[in-house]
Amino acid sequence: MPEVQQRKKESVSIAPAEGKLGVLIPGIGAVSTTFMAGVEAIKMGLARPVGSLTQLATIRLGKRTDGNSPMIKDFVPLAGLNDLVFGGWDIFEDNAYEAAAHANVLEAPLLEKVRAPLEKIKPMTAVFEKEYVKRIDGPNVKKGSKMERAEALLDDIRTFKRDNDCARLAMIWCGSTEVFHTPGAVHQTMKSFEDGLAKNDPDIAPSQIYAYAAIKSGVPFANGAPNLTHDIPALLDLSRENGVPICGKDFKTGQTFMKTLLAPGFKARMLGMTGWFSTNILGNRDGEVLEDPGSFKSKEETKLSVLEHILQPDLYPDLYKNLYHAVRINYYPPRGDAKEGWDNIDIFGWLGYPMQIKVDFLCRDSILAAPLVLDLVLFLDLAQRAGMRGIQEWLSFYFKAPMTAPGLYPEHDLFIQLMKLKNTLRWMKGADLITHLGLEYYD
Ligand SMILES: NC(=O)c1ccc[n+]([C@@H]2O[C@H](COP(=O)([O-])OP(=O)(O)OC[C@H]3O[C@@H](n4cnc5c(N)ncnc54)[C@H](O)[C@@H]3O)[C@@H](O)[C@H]2O)c1
Repeated sequence: MPEVQQRKKESVSIAPAEGKLGVLIPGIGAVSTTFMAGVEAIKMGLARPVGSLTQLATIRLGKRTDGNSPMIKDFVPLAGLNDLVFGGWDIFEDNAYEAAAHANVLEAPLLEKVRAPLEKIKPMTAVFEKEYVKRIDGPNVKKGSKMERAEALLDDIRTFKRDNDCARLAMIWCGSTEVFHTPGAVHQTMKSFEDGLAKNDPDIAPSQIYAYAAIKSGVPFANGAPNLTHDIPALLDLSRENGVPICGKDFKTGQTFMKTLLAPGFKARMLGMTGWFSTNILGNRDGEVLEDPGSFKSKEETKLSVLEHILQPDLYPDLYKNLYHAVRINYYPPRGDAKEGWDNIDIFGWLGYPMQIKVDFLCRDSILAAPLVLDLVLFLDLAQRAGMRGIQEWLSFYFKAPMTAPGLYPEHDLFIQLMKLKNTLRWMKGADLITHLGLEYYD
């Protein structure tokens, strides 16, 4: 039988998940309140954590014939839902209950049942600049230079940890999408970044100040939006130096989730594609912010990059070199958070005969995003306790534009991402990796 390469990690020691885990969230809006309200409802036994791998998924260990598939949460030591404590920042003063009511994702009877814990979550004053998110403005903002506001965030983090008696923290950006932005000179080193903070460099975005404060405090950081944020050399270096796991960008929830399910299938069967036209209508605050061309450009970049990487037109020019891929997002208030994502896909088969596929996903944005927030927070905390640092590629599963080491293209195929995630958990525990070779069953 051919030798199967099974890489085992000798000994990863994973610190136990003891004590409380503080979850710090810039952006107390639709996604974050749906996440927090959901966790409270689940703790009360009112609902199930549907959509969350950490709560519901199993992981196979050993051979298919072994019948050994524990729950992920029993296999690796994750923080429990009862140990989570929530906090965050927003430019509006609404507490999490009021913000959830405004977002109008959850129905009033459920929201009333979790009113008490949500009302206690009052947003801290935010670091905000209107040049980065043009369609909104609010009163609950910090004053001073960028360095002074960064120091105020560092202080918020320390105070939150102390006052809530947290053993550990994790931060996840659920704030609005900032305008498109590429790395500049100020983003290259920690020295240039800190000089830039002191000099109020306009190239430093608010989300970068949160990421800086988190990573500097040793707190893992995830980015749920497409902003550049911590995907810059200065913060990548700092995350490695400080032993902080990080990941991003842009939750993979509705249309792009569908794209990364379907496109690998067409490619696997060597079916060609000439066009993929995606349009969205949505009416929540996120949709309103995305009406601004700068914020839309950030979103468009992450949404467009997916097909190019999955289909590899350079390797398969006959099938994909002429692909026309367009993504549109339209703000349409009547739909609120219940988005409609339409896709028209033009494919071709044997002898070049054309076919069409139409997908109409009537989805709920925040309902799809909330379990991803939960999983990311729990997995980042696990990674830190396992001594992992820097970019966590195994969490690509959750993102439209997964962060990777410089020069490496991202893996977008959802099922490869899932295999990577589960194999990383097996690796952490020193279990055999699963290659799906399967020759051993036919010996
Ligand atoms: N819901 C999804 O399916 C999904 C998928 C991918 C990405 N996202 C991204 O997640 C983010 C949150 O989405 P949402 O629907 O909750 O939006 P939302 O508009 O309901 O909430 C965002 C909140 O962030 C606040 N905010 C903006 N800038 C801030 C700052 N500098 N500091 C603190 N708070 C700030 C806003 O006031 C708002 O309350 C958006 O960037 C969105 O693009 C959502």
